[in-house]
Amino acid sequence: MSLPFLTNSPPLHPSVETNSVLTGNFAPVDKTPPTECLVVEGELPHSIHGVYIRNGPNPQHQPLGPHHLFEGDGMLHSILLSQGRAIFCSRYVKTYKYKLDHDAGFPMIPNFLSGFNGLGDVGRGIVALGRAMTGQISLTKGFGLANTSLKFFCNTLFAMVETDLPYRIRITEEGDIKTIGRHDFDGKAPVNMTAHPKMDEETGEVFAFRCFPVVPYLTYFRFDSNGCKEKDVPIFSINSPTYVHDFGITEHYAIFPDIVLEMAPMDMIMLQGMPVKCWPNQVPHIGIINRYATSDSEMRWFEVPGFNALHMSNAWEDDQSGIIIVATNALKIENSHNLDKVHFSLEKLRIDMKTGEITRSVFSKRSLELGSPNVSYAVAFRSYGGSCFGGEVLFVGMDTGDEIECDEDDGFVVSYVHNEKENESRLVMDAKSSTLDIVAAVKLPGTVPYGFHGIFLGQKELQMM
Ligand SMILES: [Fe+2]
Repeated sequence: MSLPFLTNSPPLHPSVETNSVLTGNFAPVDKTPPTECLVVEGELPHSIHGVYIRNGPNPQHQPLGPHHLFEGDGMLHSILLSQGRAIFCSRYVKTYKYKLDHDAGFPMIPNFLSGFNGLGDVGRGIVALGRAMTGQISLTKGFGLANTSLKFFCNTLFAMVETDLPYRIRITEEGDIKTIGRHDFDGKAPVNMTAHPKMDEETGEVFAFRCFPVVPYLTYFRFDSNGCKEKDVPIFSINSPTYVHDFGITEHYAIFPDIVLEMAPMDMIMLQGMPVKCWPNQVPHIGIINRYATSDSEMRWFEVPGFNALHMSNAWEDDQSGIIIVATNALKIENSHNLDKVHFSLEKLRIDMKTGEITRSVFSKRSLELGSPNVSYAVAFRSYGGSCFGGEVLFVGMDTGDEIECDEDDGFVVSYVHNEKENESRLVMDAKSSTLDIVAAVKLPGTVPYGFHGIFLGQKELQMM
């Protein structure tokens, strides 16, 4: 019997060709110890004391085979702002995989997301399996890269990826970044969890989920205000290996977008490329469940044709039995292996829980993937200038003490901005204004590659670590 898939390797898709993926400001950078930065424009407000941190992929070794952007080791880029000064630092998240590859001096664990594309990849997979069987690699310590997001809950800062458990991170007084270790919540969350858990600021509870390639494909769970994980709620009404990246929480509900992307691990094993498949002819659904549900028996599903929400910016309930969702809808999601061809439209969806009626509108036709939640105030716009590109921007509220009342949008927005012509990265801070006037720009000691999600932690959170 011939095995043509072993002898005829398919051509590499550009999305996993190392030379295409790791170019320009996607190329990895070296770590940077805490370094004071020059303020090159304006003045850093003394009212800000906190740290802005952005997570993103940054492979520590040259990949040996196909490499997808999402497969770089997590690197955190932080800038500590205090008393008008700025301290920048870049460090890897010291995951189990990072340590294995670091100690070996080469990528010991093969890239799984980019798929097995030929005999070389299969060989690396078999060698890794052999190492696992002989105890050189532990299968229980996770192989996640912690490269997607940063979340602060249970009084802890976590670097997260949806294929593994979170890694605890600490920011030192000097502005350095330390990895404390992988966190399994006292053994109650033993496999993986979303990189987008949601915290209810009123109650202190944290809501989360995990996707898995075998039944149950989706599992919902929550942590009480003390950080204690409650029982899993398997969502058995999902009957295929769905890919849910983000979800929404309202006062009474948890909201799950079941989009047309699915996990397809067999595709990878059969050398068919990435283990993610798109079914563009299927109809996406939104699943809504009581957020304190103990089973999925009362979960309701709503068909929403063409609504493939990868990120949810916000969700809330109105006074007329409606649930409002604001999310980035991935148009042309069948191009998900080449994100350049996907357009992200910011849309608002209302589901009437009494009548089942769904109404939709487009907030912004401008392609926006990583939206921020204060949509009531999302009326301002700034172009960073030619050849300049930003990342996820974060709102930082004005710290005026408890006595003085502030408007909801009193504060600043922060982002790393990269100038492709000058090959220079800066932190730009824009004030409350319809044109987002620049308050201060800081020249960073190195470049910050384009990455994923970030966080801003104030003085209170820093003291809790
Ligand atoms: Fe995300």
